[in-house]
Amino acid sequence: MARHGWRSRAAQIKAPDMTDSLTIRRPDDWHVHLRDGAMLEAVAGHTARQFARAIVMPNLSPPVTNVALATAYRERIVAALPEGADFTPLMTCYLTDNTDPDEIRRGFEAGVFTAAKLYPAGATTNSDSGVTDVANIRAVLEVMAEIGMVLCVHGEVTHADVDIFDREAVFIERVLAPLLADLPQLKVVFEHLTSEEGVKFVENADANVAATITPQHLHINRNAMLVGGMRPHAYCLPVAKREKHRLALRRAATGGSAKFFLGTDSAPHAREAKESACGCAGIFNAPFALESYLAVFEEEGAIDLFEGFASEHGPRFYGLSLNETRITIERTDCSVPAQIAADGTQLVPFHAGETLRWRFAG
Ligand code: DOR
Ligand code: ZN
Repeated sequence: MARHGWRSRAAQIKAPDMTDSLTIRRPDDWHVHLRDGAMLEAVAGHTARQFARAIVMPNLSPPVTNVALATAYRERIVAALPEGADFTPLMTCYLTDNTDPDEIRRGFEAGVFTAAKLYPAGATTNSDSGVTDVANIRAVLEVMAEIGMVLCVHGEVTHADVDIFDREAVFIERVLAPLLADLPQLKVVFEHLTSEEGVKFVENADANVAATITPQHLHINRNAMLVGGMRPHAYCLPVAKREKHRLALRRAATGGSAKFFLGTDSAPHAREAKESACGCAGIFNAPFALESYLAVFEEEGAIDLFEGFASEHGPRFYGLSLNETRITIERTDCSVPAQIAADGTQLVPFHAGETLRWRFAG
């Protein structure tokens, strides 16, 4: 549904050249999990097909905690790409309580690290080696603020006494706001934003604070996970929340602000690892990511603002050049398969079994 009357009229005025296809600067994915080994081989092509670059998360087992590991992982990603792919992985360093500030500086200056990732210890998949208290990485963050290196943040506290649906809001209050008060120059990307509190925080923060938004948090609220049975393929972290949060995220993503940009958080797990007594968190959305996002922009009457969100705000925030090539998305039915073969098993993609209204044409 259109959010502002003027927005929907603007989209209609542009209808003649927008109705059947949309051609935009090639997008980037500012948050993705590409995994390793056979799973990497299976999923890398899905991301490389739609995106020119991606910020690759370092939560492998063991995690990517230094320059040597990031260099080797980058080589494995490039080797896993389909022939002819034009895709650049942007590497991140997984921060631990023991990260050496000199290693961060060296990796950034050598062009190996684009950013560093803060996982509060225990917050999500392979985060056990994460940071137990941001005070322990004060020297690292000081260097990052000095050199202008982005801190990608998984913004959830992990204390057992904090309800899982409140963990993002409590993280802002207890960790992120004090951190930015202490280091106001630090460039922070609040990853996979899921709450109204998060949207407000980012909107009110200075220009050095931005956020990525996933397709799933724009499409689903927590009912999708819990009504009519438990649906493990709608489970990711941070968990989808109430409807008012989804609506706040849709306003943020489609409102034109340069603080919000595309980050899929595509996180493949084998079907049997999701459909289990203790199912893994993560939604595999890479194969139809642009189609999924564009459906939201269309519903919000904001197709004209999609290029900014998908292709411009991210590189500008990171201080990188915009992509020069273009892609086209056509308005035609796009059937999402029930599952996709990978690594001797199956992955259930986001929107499995649905028909989306747009199709990436290359
Ligand atoms: O749902 C998630 N899956 N959230 C994360 O933060 C990690 C990711 C994964 O690696 O599977
Ligand atoms: Zn992630």
